[in-house]
Amino acid sequence: MLELADKRIVLGLTGGIACYKVAEFLRRAQDQGAVIDVVMTEAATHFIGATTMQALSGRPVYLDAWDERVPNSMAHINLTRGADAIVIAPASTDFIAKLANGLANDLLSTLCVAKGNCPLLVAPAMNREMWLHPATQRNVAQIKADGALILGPAEGDQACGETGSGRMLEPHELLAELIAFFQPKPLRGKRVLITAGPTSEKIDPIRVITNRSSGKMGYAIAQAAREAGAEVVLVSGPTALPAPYQVMRVDVDSAAQMHAAVMNEAGNADVFISVAAVADWRVVNASGSKLKKQADGKAPQLEFEANPDILADIARMPSGPWCVGFAAETENLLEYAEAKRKRKGVPLLVGNLAQQAMNADETELILFDDAGHTALPVLGKLAAARKLIAAIADKLPVSPKP
Ligand code: CTP
Repeated sequence: MLELADKRIVLGLTGGIACYKVAEFLRRAQDQGAVIDVVMTEAATHFIGATTMQALSGRPVYLDAWDERVPNSMAHINLTRGADAIVIAPASTDFIAKLANGLANDLLSTLCVAKGNCPLLVAPAMNREMWLHPATQRNVAQIKADGALILGPAEGDQACGETGSGRMLEPHELLAELIAFFQPKPLRGKRVLITAGPTSEKIDPIRVITNRSSGKMGYAIAQAAREAGAEVVLVSGPTALPAPYQVMRVDVDSAAQMHAAVMNEAGNADVFISVAAVADWRVVNASGSKLKKQADGKAPQLEFEANPDILADIARMPSGPWCVGFAAETENLLEYAEAKRKRKGVPLLVGNLAQQAMNADETELILFDDAGHTALPVLGKLAAARKLIAAIADKLPVSPKP
């Protein structure tokens, strides 16, 4: 699925060393189906050539308002009509000041004044002192108040050798922001706590008992919840996946650690989505040193005790979050999932067939609640996660916490 299919973007570059990163952003956004018109200020051309941006975008690059290639001489109008967003990256101190004051003395600034309802996303890039200057902060506050969405900036090493706030977001972060921008925001202001992945129970310092959960579904749900405007904490068992952009990940190994981490966060959460494949038992007689083969060839005898049921514990909290459980079953899905929903005491349970869902990129989710069950279509995990988040937002009581 292309995340930016049919999206028309005007990409404005202003003067800053971060221009070189924008070439990569353009490429990645195109990979997702975006059609991109590049507009550069004169200052931007000192940092990256128009030819580079033209070759990458496969479209003419616009440099000034007097471009003779534009038959009606109205590039400032033509470019934004029908565009889905304007992205200014990098946005210099000077350009933000222009935006804040409605100046229109080159093609890019004129186009931003003439844009009508076209959304404006601005990715600042400047030295930390320039970013912290009261005038810049005033201008940023002004363009926000005028409706611009500010992307970043990040903190870190700067091209000038200083360290601080003002770095432009990385290309993959800009892309994540742009994709998220086009998603609806039904969870704005909500805090969502999610568990994902397998847990791992120690046998000795080298061996563990775990399961085949990849974490993909939980991570996709974390991304979808973030895109929907929520603040997201993801308590994750061991997986190979990177944390989704702007999701706070808490890494754990065992079910007991996951339980402790979830308990720690649950009081602040509006919604808890329990996607992790939690080990039901842990080894009581785990060894502190590596178990060695015995001379008589006998296998070690492991003793087990039950792990806490994290979801059931959260569902019992008197003013805890609204809970969503998962059930991966190998058979009798409808019967087992509804029974599990009742047993765990949760308003919504999401069922799927383990053999179809585990480690796969696509899934068919079935939602069980008081009204019965509804199947979502077979979709990629991110698309399925977005549908699930929309359903959760729909079902969420207006004030989940009394
Ligand atoms: N779960 C949990 N803590 C556990 C076990 C499960 O929070 N110790 C959660 C899972 O994250 C999932 C739901 O409970 O949301 C159902 O998990 P599942 O393993 O399918 O159910 P079990 O209760 O373990 O039942 P069974 O293994 O008998 O199917």
